[in-house]
Amino acid sequence: MPARHAADGTASPGLSETGDAIDSNIMSSAENPVILGIETSCDETAAAVLRGRTILSNVIASQTDIHREYGGVVPELASRHHLERIDLVVDLALGRAGTRLADLDAVAVTCGPGLVGSLLVGLQAAKAIAYVRSIPLLAVNHLEGHLRSVFLEHPGVPFPAVSLIASGGHTSLYLSGDEDRAVRLARTRDDASGEAFDKVAKLVGLGYPGGPVVDRLARSGDRKAVPFSPPRMSDGSLDFSFSGFKTAVLRHARARGLDRRFPAGEPDQETRDLLASFQSAVVEFMVKRVLTVARREAARSICLSGGVACNSLLRARLAEEAAGAGLQCFAVSPSLAGDNAAMIAEVGRRKLLLGEVADLSQNADPGLEF
Ligand code: KG4
Ligand code: ZN
Repeated sequence: MPARHAADGTASPGLSETGDAIDSNIMSSAENPVILGIETSCDETAAAVLRGRTILSNVIASQTDIHREYGGVVPELASRHHLERIDLVVDLALGRAGTRLADLDAVAVTCGPGLVGSLLVGLQAAKAIAYVRSIPLLAVNHLEGHLRSVFLEHPGVPFPAVSLIASGGHTSLYLSGDEDRAVRLARTRDDASGEAFDKVAKLVGLGYPGGPVVDRLARSGDRKAVPFSPPRMSDGSLDFSFSGFKTAVLRHARARGLDRRFPAGEPDQETRDLLASFQSAVVEFMVKRVLTVARREAARSICLSGGVACNSLLRARLAEEAAGAGLQCFAVSPSLAGDNAAMIAEVGRRKLLLGEVADLSQNADPGLEF
């Protein structure tokens, strides 16, 4: 059954919910278990309930407003705020789904990668629920969550599929033979793509997170105004690298006196042109990499996930190039692109089916690989 989710609705500042509330008692079955997902790896406190592949609720309490004044995520503040909100967010997710703790078949939680203090909050909450209800604990890799967010939303993705995960912490390419097998083909050697957007926004005096604001301002800029040269790997690898784009922006902004000229107001046309050129260069670099790998691996489809999947130019250009190459393109919806717990519950659902259950000694692993 395809995943379903309603449009975002803001419940209170910094808190968003998706999912259709249901009012009858929840019925689970072996094929359609009711799973609570919990995600606290960075600065979103998130909980979601899935029944099978159906998203019953998807609650995300964002900490963006708290970290904005520091220009990035402050780990100590993040864990403290997770601690303050986790119970409320879990209660909201259960309530919105029309479920109680007693209805749950399992609890899935992100165990890494991420900020250790933040991960531990979600992990302890999940362990407590698993222990008290005597239900399986499912330990989930955050990046597998992003990868699978596309399969959750589009159950008919044809394989082999090449997936680009582009977020604030990671930018990697994977080849999936089916839903359960993914091999990493490339990763970033320095900054993540979202990190590059955030740093560039910061150095021209725009707020955090930078991705959405660059995306918006680039719409009224000339993407051909400033030339950028994409990085070339001397070993011929298809890995990504984004720090050169950021340095080029820094040099150009300094030379033209564009850095930090607009701390409060809207940037001028020259800055918009620079941002549009930067965004276009980064997007074309990523799209080219994805298409090269997809052709080499004889993929049938291309999948896009992670926070940077919200980028309007990336979505459009990837869809365009995929269509030109005869490939299907699946970009996750913005409501499932950023960090969320529905994707964590979905990985948990597969783990439950495969019998991959964690025990209560499960620890957080900030550097967990995928
Ligand atoms: O997946 P995510 O919510 O968190 C991580 O796991 O990192 O991704 C957050 C990142 C931030 O760097 C943010 O600037 C970026 O996604 N982002 C965007 C856009 N919306 C969010 N980057 C470019 N264009 C956007 N529209
Ligand atoms: Zn993420």
